[in-house]
Parts: sequence; structure tokens; C-alpha cells
Amino acid sequence: MLVTGAISEDHAIEIFTQGAKDYVLKTRLQQRLVPAVRRALAEAEEQRARRQAEDELRKAHRTLEERVRIRTLELEAEISARKKIEEALQKAHDSLEQQVAERTIELQTALSEIRALKDQLEAENIYFRQETKMKHRFEHILGQSNALKYVLYRAEQVASANTTVLILGETGTGKELIASAIHDMSPRKERPLITVNCAALPGNLIESELFGREKGAFTGADTRQVGRFEIANGSTLCLDEIGELPLELQAKLLRVIQHGEFERLGSSNTIKVDVRILATTNRDLEEEVRKGRFRQDLYYRLNVFPITVPPLRQRKEDIPLMVRAFIERYSRKLGKSITSIQKETMKALQDYPWPGNVRELENVIERTVILCTGPALRLADKLEISSPQLTSAARTLEETERNYILKILSETRWRIEGKDGAAAILGLHRSTLRARMHKLGIVRQEIKKEPKPESD
Ligand SMILES: Nc1ncnc2c1ncn2[C@@H]1O[C@H](COP(=O)(O)OP(=O)(O)OP(=O)(O)O)[C@@H](O)[C@H]1O
Ligand SMILES: [Mg+2]
Repeated sequence: MLVTGAISEDHAIEIFTQGAKDYVLKTRLQQRLVPAVRRALAEAEEQRARRQAEDELRKAHRTLEERVRIRTLELEAEISARKKIEEALQKAHDSLEQQVAERTIELQTALSEIRALKDQLEAENIYFRQETKMKHRFEHILGQSNALKYVLYRAEQVASANTTVLILGETGTGKELIASAIHDMSPRKERPLITVNCAALPGNLIESELFGREKGAFTGADTRQVGRFEIANGSTLCLDEIGELPLELQAKLLRVIQHGEFERLGSSNTIKVDVRILATTNRDLEEEVRKGRFRQDLYYRLNVFPITVPPLRQRKEDIPLMVRAFIERYSRKLGKSITSIQKETMKALQDYPWPGNVRELENVIERTVILCTGPALRLADKLEISSPQLTSAARTLEETERNYILKILSETRWRIEGKDGAAAILGLHRSTLRARMHKLGIVRQEIKKEPKPESD
């Protein structure tokens, strides 16, 4: 506040610039000083109050700003934490989903495996049941090869019917065994199986053997004979080695097979029978038909249900089992204790082509057991000598067999039967040897040989 006597415009500007709030002229001091001071004081008070309010406002603003900043940070932290949790959750969800997908695939795979196993198990069960059934039914028939199992399966299939069965196969393969197995499984099993070996007897004798004869039917027929067909009435007749049946008897046989009737030799009475026919042969009957040695109509009548017994060399897996069984059979019979078999022996037995099949194998084992001195079975030399010659092609095998039979025949002067006959030396049944000779064309050579000494 300036108290002055007079004031110019410039002076006024200067004092206000320096901070004066008002001025009072000395001439008007009394009237103006107090109001001027009051005004100035009020103004000052007002200014101070405004500054204080402004300070408080700024302070409040700063506080608010700070709280906003802190809250923002808090929220940001919270958001990132949530984001992390969300990410972790998503990750866990994804991996769970993947795990579920993988597990589903695993379970589906396992399920289809289980289904496949179940199917297999069912199939195996059937097979097992069949096998145990077979084992039970064919206890005496050795072998586990699929080839043999198929033969037994076929035999079982046809057993219950009255169907004629033609059993084919090389010598010694077990054709008769199969024939009797078929009979034993058939409804006719209570009656005995009647067998006729068509190769064992000459034509006229086989006729009366089959159909019977009246007393005096032919010279020398001094008794009445009941034929095998009559004996086999209600049962089964096995015509063994049917391929050897003379042509003239084949027509008569055909009539019995077709109509179940025939007459005894020397009789006109027709006899009716109910006989089931099983026939065996080691011949190729189709070939025999082609050559005119076997009637085609009879062949068709016989070949209703053919069963081929495969040769041993085509089911080598049966050999060890048979070898063990035969060793046991013969060592028990001969009172020997053979507990093992040399590996090489077993290998040689498996490698040998067995032209005489199971019969030959059984004979070899019997001989070997006889000669065996220790607890381990060793092969006799004979098999080792013959095997390399016989292991080559079938033709060579046949040739070797033919030559060998010829050699033995010349040694026995063509004597087949008897203790020192060729059949005994070869370990074959005489009829089998005859059949073999016929097959290999040796019979003709014998006939050819006969005129020679005469012309000599
Ligand atoms: N699977 C087998 N298990 C046991 N023994 C068998 C088997 N096969 C054949 N045999 C035996 O072999 C021998 C010959 O069998 P079988 O007489 O049945 O043969 P085959 O085929 O009729 O011979 P062939 O044509 O020479 O008359 C018999 O002693 C028989 O018991
Ligand atoms: Mg036989």
C-alpha cells in the first residue's frame, strides 16, 4: 500500500509492478486508508485461501493419480496372472484332449485285437475239440501232419454214411488202417469189418472167396463156401488192392455194388445183401482204365468218395513221432531200454524217401531196435547205404526200387513167397511185392524171362 502526495501514470505502473496493491493520496488519507487496508487485507486473505485450496486440490489429485497407478499395476498383474492360468488351463486341456485321443486309439486297437483273438480262440477251440476228438478216435493212427489230419477228417466225414470209399495211396501208407478207422466210426461198427485181399488169390479162387460157392461148383470144390459178401452182410467189406481184381470179376462186383445181389458159384439162387464197400489200391486206376485193365463203370462206382493217403516223404513231420512210437513198441516187445535217439539217426530217417512208407519205417525201426546195444538208438547201415541213391527225383527212385527188386528176385530165382522169398527179404507183404512188381513192370519181365530158358 503506497501513501503518496501525488501520483503520475508512470509512477503508478511502477509501484503496481513492484507489488503494491493500492495507493492512498495523502490528501484523502483519512477517508481512504482504512477501507483500502481492509480491501487489501481481504484480498490477501482471499489469495491465501485460494492457494491453500489449490494446494489441497493438487495434493488430492496426486493421491488419486498414485492410487490409479497402483490399481493399474495391480490389475495388470492380476490380468497377466489370469492369462497365465488360462494358458496353463488351455495347455492342460489340449494335452488332456490329446491323451484322450491317443487312449481312444489305443483302446480301439486293443478292442480289435481282442475281437481277433476271440475269433482265433473260438477257431482254436473248435480245432482243439476236433483234434482231441481225432486223438481219441484214432489213437492207433500216428501222425500230426496236416496231410494226415486231412485224411482223418475225410474219413470222419464219410464214416457215418453208407457211401463207397476208395482209399488211394502208395504201398505201406496206411490204407487198410484208414479203412478200418472208417468202419470203426460207422454205424456198422458192432459187426466186424471183412477184408478181402484181391491180390492174394488167383482169379477163380477170389471169385468163390467173394461170392461163395456150392459144393461141386468146379473141380476141387468139394465143400460149400459162404462168400465174403454174405459174411459182410450188414457190415463193411474192404476190397483190398482192388486194382488187382481180374477183369472178368469186375462186372460181377459192379452188380453187387449197384444192386446188392449176386449168386454163389454153381447156384442160380440170387442172394441179396446190404454191404458197405471200402476199396483200397496203390494203382492209378484212371491209368488202368485207359489201359483197359479196369472197367470204367466200376471205377466210377468206386470213386464216389476218394481218400488219398499221402506217402511218408510228403509228411516228414510225422516221422519223429512214428519213430518214437515204434521204438517204444519194439523195445518193450524185445525187453530193451532205449531212452534216446541220435540226432543224425533221426535226421537220416527224416531224409530217407521211404518207398515202402510206414511199413518200411516200422520194419527198419524193429531191425534197428534188435541190433541196438546201448540206450541210444543208432541206425543200421542198410538205410544209410540206400538213402543217397534214393533221394533224387521220383523217376530215379522208381528205377532204383525196380533195380533193387529185380536184384533180389534174381537172387531168389523169382521166388516171392516163403521164408527165403523176395517178399521176406524186402520186408514186404507178398501181395504188396506183387503189386509193386506190377506197377514197376517187373511182372512182364518175369514172363518174358520164362520163354528164354526154354529157347536156350
Ligand atoms: N499213421 C500210421 N500210424 C501207425 N501205423 C501206421 C500208420 N500208417 C501205416 N501204419 C502201419 O504201417 C503198416 C502198413 O499199413 P497198411 O497195411 O494200412 O498200409 P497199406 O497202405 O494198406 O499198404 P499196402 O498197399 O502195401 O497194402 C501197418 O502195420 C500199419 O499199422
Ligand atoms: Mg493194404
